[in-house]
Amino acid sequence: MLKIIEEHISAISKKKFANQEDAEKFRVKFLGKKGVLSSLFLEFKTLDSKEKKTIGAALNELKTAAEDALKSAPRNIKKNKNEGLEDLSRPGYNSHPGSRHPISIVKNEIIEIFENLGFTSEEGPEMEDDWHNFSALNFPEEHPARDMQDTFFLTRDQKWALRTHTSSVQVRTMEAQTPPIRIIAPGRVFRNEAISSRSHCVFHQVEGLYIDSRVSFADMKQTLSSFSKAFFGEATQIRLRPSYFPFTEPSAEMDIWWGLENEVDHRMTKGTGWLEIMGCGMVDPNVLDSCGIDSQKYSGFAFGMGIERIAMQRFQIPDIRAFYENDIRFLKNFTGA
Ligand code: PHE
Repeated sequence: MLKIIEEHISAISKKKFANQEDAEKFRVKFLGKKGVLSSLFLEFKTLDSKEKKTIGAALNELKTAAEDALKSAPRNIKKNKNEGLEDLSRPGYNSHPGSRHPISIVKNEIIEIFENLGFTSEEGPEMEDDWHNFSALNFPEEHPARDMQDTFFLTRDQKWALRTHTSSVQVRTMEAQTPPIRIIAPGRVFRNEAISSRSHCVFHQVEGLYIDSRVSFADMKQTLSSFSKAFFGEATQIRLRPSYFPFTEPSAEMDIWWGLENEVDHRMTKGTGWLEIMGCGMVDPNVLDSCGIDSQKYSGFAFGMGIERIAMQRFQIPDIRAFYENDIRFLKNFTGA
């Protein structure tokens, strides 16, 4: 009998349970009412007292071994009631994850480049008052940009309008912060223009503003050149053409060298090889003073670019209207963060 008990003990010490079922079988076999242990105990009762001493100790050892083994058995995991019904080898379900809008892809890329240059992102309202969209930006009272032709006015007295550019966020930022200021402001803008393949009445801009003591035109040029290289490629050349904006002095348009290799290049660059990307300039001291920043102490530069124009060039999209039609077949072509 002692030999049988010892064999059981050594078998139990090697026992590993595959699953809960296996453990249950083990429990019934050893510890169940009609199990190994009960029958051994029955036999034990018939032994004489001398034998009882050694066998008793061995039996107790076997019982503890069986109980201990069960402690390490896998726990009862609730069964899924469909278990066994699912065919795990079947092909996966087709998922249709959405993709980002090409405007968002380009916008996020622009934001990331400027964030790497130390700019943070600001936002402003799309409904603006005359002050933030025009007056604080040095627009003379009779400036044509205030004209009904360009601006969607919201009130008869023309005090409220849909912002015509993100430069209004410059004003809000200067009013709220003290230099050094280094922000970009992406957002939607509205102009009362005829819709065509090249222009729309709703589009997106990214504004930039940098104000500190002794900021120069050279700083602006360097910043814009770094951006252009990061966005369009390391070999990108830029040029600044004199221009005019009421809120910057001097003002410029920035072009990048695009080349004249094919028919499309000729059309896109109007035969010059240069592609116009953004307006920029040194913030007019009048604007600084209007917004509560001492123009004797501080100077700065600002720039603003249209996202659609850049996205059309980047993805070779010939018609600006494609961005707003929400045609899934068009939108599915773009991937990006
Ligand atoms: N706000 C100008 C526009 O909409 C762009 C611009 C921004 C120009 C900042 C100079 C400085 O055309």
